[in-house]
Amino acid sequence: MELFEAFAKRHSYRFDYTDAPVSREDLTKILNAALKAPSGKNEQTTNFVIVDDPDTCAKIGSLHASNKAVCQAKAFIVCIVDKEAEAIYEGHSFQIEDCAAAVENMLLAITSLGYASVWVDGWLRVNAHAQTIAQMLSVPDDKVIRVILPIGVPAQQKAQPEKKTFDQRAWFGKYGG
Ligand SMILES: Cc1cc2nc3c(=O)[nH]c(=O)nc-3n(C[C@H](O)[C@H](O)[C@H](O)COP(=O)(O)O)c2cc1C
Repeated sequence: MELFEAFAKRHSYRFDYTDAPVSREDLTKILNAALKAPSGKNEQTTNFVIVDDPDTCAKIGSLHASNKAVCQAKAFIVCIVDKEAEAIYEGHSFQIEDCAAAVENMLLAITSLGYASVWVDGWLRVNAHAQTIAQMLSVPDDKVIRVILPIGVPAQQKAQPEKKTFDQRAWFGKYGG
């Protein structure tokens, strides 16, 4: 799939997956897209656990009944950052931005390979979901799960929701045009 088509087709998918598996070859391709993402000072601060064991997928899925994609995921990519972000430039750390860049690269790769996913972050922060999954995956105490991406073949055709137009959000030359 051409890159600009992937921008247009990527959408947050929270619906049924088919029974089709996600191959390790494809999971490796998706992860390699994350590894190529930019990061502050090229520190590459995000680490990843790829979960494709059915039992562990089901355990994670059982925590999020309202999101069918999470419940039925054939695989997850779990994105992990430090709890205490290290300042690497003039007192600033960039690990959240680093993680976000990696996640967006993966969402585009997931789309281009014919799978669907959703950026799950907010949900991890409530009811200790991130901690519960971290325990399942032996994530060290000084790390936190920032994002999980469920992956599967979508059983339903969905589309990206409408976005604001160029004119509503962007201008050439100066703010407000
Ligand atoms: C930082 C961030 C956190 C998000 N957290 C969640 C989440 O916890 N659960 C969820 O279902 N979607 C989550 N989303 C997905 C957004 O709801 C989604 O991107 C937005 O509604 C726009 O829809 P689209 O992705 O289809 O364009 C998150 C997205 C971002 C960028």
